Amino acid sequence: MKPDPIVERTVQTPFGELAVERPARVADPSTMVIFGATGDLAKRKLLPALYNLNGDRLLPERFAVVGVGREPMTTDAYREKVSRDLQEFGTAGTERVQCEWLESRLAYLTGDFGDDGLYRRLGDVLSALHESGDSTCDCLFYLATPPALFGPIVEHLGAAGLLAEDGGWRRVIIEKPFGHDLDSARALNRRLVGLLKEHQIYRIDHYLGKETVQNIMAFRFANGIFEPIWNRRYVDHVQITVAETVGVEQRGDYYDRTGAMRDMVQNHLFQLLALTAMEPPISFEADAVRDERVKVLRAIRPFLPGGLDAQVVRSQYAAGEVEGTPVPAYRQEPDVARGSTTETYVALKLLVDNWRWADVPFYLRTGKRLPQRLTEVVLQFKRAPFQLFRDTPVGCLPANQLVLCIQPNEGIALHFEAKVPGPRVRLGTVRMDFSYADYFGMRPTTGYETLLYDAMIGDSTLFHRADIVEAGWTVVEPILQAWEGSRAGLPAYAAGSWGPEAADALMARDEREWHLPAATS
Ligand code: BG6
Repeated sequence: MKPDPIVERTVQTPFGELAVERPARVADPSTMVIFGATGDLAKRKLLPALYNLNGDRLLPERFAVVGVGREPMTTDAYREKVSRDLQEFGTAGTERVQCEWLESRLAYLTGDFGDDGLYRRLGDVLSALHESGDSTCDCLFYLATPPALFGPIVEHLGAAGLLAEDGGWRRVIIEKPFGHDLDSARALNRRLVGLLKEHQIYRIDHYLGKETVQNIMAFRFANGIFEPIWNRRYVDHVQITVAETVGVEQRGDYYDRTGAMRDMVQNHLFQLLALTAMEPPISFEADAVRDERVKVLRAIRPFLPGGLDAQVVRSQYAAGEVEGTPVPAYRQEPDVARGSTTETYVALKLLVDNWRWADVPFYLRTGKRLPQRLTEVVLQFKRAPFQLFRDTPVGCLPANQLVLCIQPNEGIALHFEAKVPGPRVRLGTVRMDFSYADYFGMRPTTGYETLLYDAMIGDSTLFHRADIVEAGWTVVEPILQAWEGSRAGLPAYAAGSWGPEAADALMARDEREWHLPAATS
């Protein structure tokens, strides 16, 4: 038997002991079926996340994982593979006992996802697990497969009677990308809702699983001092940056058909935007929070084809050097078309046309092969009036900035002006810093733990509803259409740089500049 779940642990902070709440509820006894069980996502994220959940004693005793994949393999071979993968990709070390606990719950099923026979065999495995008491009828299907298989797999599951909730709950987690554009997202949603009820569908965006992303809500709504200034009266503009040092790795084929706008902006960056800009929800109920997130996306002023050049920059990396290592150009990456026009960098300016944010620009940028891995949200406040300092050596008053650092150095910093000691009136910018690691001793996670746990307890707050996905596509649709098949306006940036000059020009036109992250400033 497992010990009781951790209800609470305490950490030592500079201000004394602080209780860190842990969910007291162990996830419901269930079986998790992973389609794409030998793929990258399963080995890098899903199984290490299950390992971590078990480490936090949040998985039930009656729990099983059925891996489904095309690669022929026995259950024993799959267990050995998972054992090796956990050694390599586990984020919190690997303890033999815990690995063995997880491995003992694994089964593997080989088959073609388009074959009816596979689903009959899967049904037999699920029934056997239930009858032996190793698991229950409750079942979570995780589609860690290429997007083209989402619809067919769900159809097969439905036809095999595996989605019916007569004996217990049945939930389906669908990975991104959810559609390729607005039409295909709508078509996929229609296909799914014909087979599943909305409460059974969990559209995942792993950014919402990051603690620091969730903290945006806590920071805004659990403190009295920030919300009153969180609006157009005090905020000059907002910047959201998701910078990556990696290129397309082994995903050239997927990425070349997708690009940064679809891969990152339409989902991850828009969710950061939604959490930063949304109104306070009336509760933490899933729909209350999701209602507010979708309202932000719907309030974004539509992009007009004629105005795109002034608001959107796309670019692709050329050869360069990242973190001291020479790297090839995007077009030289494996499985990428030599004449590809796919963007690996996007910067855009958008406006959220509501009472809180009217006329406050939001600048978003993301790119691969940038000099530093960094995700942050920066609120830049309006400058103080200069008048008082006119007869002093102070040349100008820099704007105050609040920086929410999502990764890798999770924390929050406030940049403000202070007097430089000495007889003259001189100012210097200083930082007031809060770092998660100092207070809570952040343990590295995969980012999937919360999401898997939430799906197992039926909490869909951090998942997308169909309307959120469609609202995101509605915003980017005019841009994607304008880019379709056109090479115009695709400047290159050197790998290892902060992106193309056009992105700086986008800011310069508004007499603003991108926030220079700490490591390079
Ligand atoms: C994925 C994208 O959703 O997010 C990848 O498909 C990207 O291209 C990744 O690299 C970034 O996630 P993280 O958690 O490393 O910031």
